[in-house]
Amino acid sequence: MRIVLFGAPGSGKGTQAEKLVADFGIPQVSTGDLLRAAVAADSDLGRAAKAAMDAGELVSDEVVIGMIRERLAEPDAENGFILDGFPRSLPQAEALDELLAELGRPLQGVIHLAVDNEEIVHRLLARGRSDDKEETIRNRLQVFDRQTQPLADYYRRQGKFADVVGEGDIGAIHEQIRRALPSDA
Ligand code: AP5
Ligand code: MG
Repeated sequence: MRIVLFGAPGSGKGTQAEKLVADFGIPQVSTGDLLRAAVAADSDLGRAAKAAMDAGELVSDEVVIGMIRERLAEPDAENGFILDGFPRSLPQAEALDELLAELGRPLQGVIHLAVDNEEIVHRLLARGRSDDKEETIRNRLQVFDRQTQPLADYYRRQGKFADVVGEGDIGAIHEQIRRALPSDA
């Protein structure tokens, strides 16, 4: 199974990815988690990414695409993966399509978790990660609308896009995602 969980900050990508990992035994690949690990390790990559993350802006496509290329080459991704928070820009989506074409394993589906912005602000203020300050959350939401939301059309044109309402009971949302999974996944 090769799918993307797509959605605004705080829409529940990480929460739902964990459930799919438990169901299917394939890894969750979250660029946000990979970047936070790089920041914690104080690597060159982490130092390059930190300012953008703190501001709620996107880290450069080059850095993120390189990270994904390495991660998807690891053996545990051979049987599939759940991408969480990647791709987030048109160049990232195109690079992913190219990479997966090289591997002969195209993406099967993109599941969009739709959540109201005020619900998101409420959720993230309650969580309190270092980028969960109201001003940064609002900027992350704007960055999503501007740079990431256009990917919905990119994947709709490929016939790979499905919408799921991401509000309410976490288990019920998981069931909706299971139903929205592509039939070949
Ligand atoms: P990233 O880590 O991807 O953050 P994000 O997209 O802003 O999303 P979150 O992780 O905050 O939310 P989520 O959708 O995973 O929801 P969660 O399950 O945690 O990215 C961070 C930064 O890294 C970016 O700003 C950027 O700088 C950089 N970055 C990452 N990827 C990049 C890329 N591809 N390109 C460039 N830069 C990149 O849930 C949120 C909260 O809600 C939790 O507390 C959870 O318990 C709760 N919750 C979940 N579901 C429900 C529910 N149904 N009802 C109530 N509460 C719920
Ligand atoms: Mg997350």
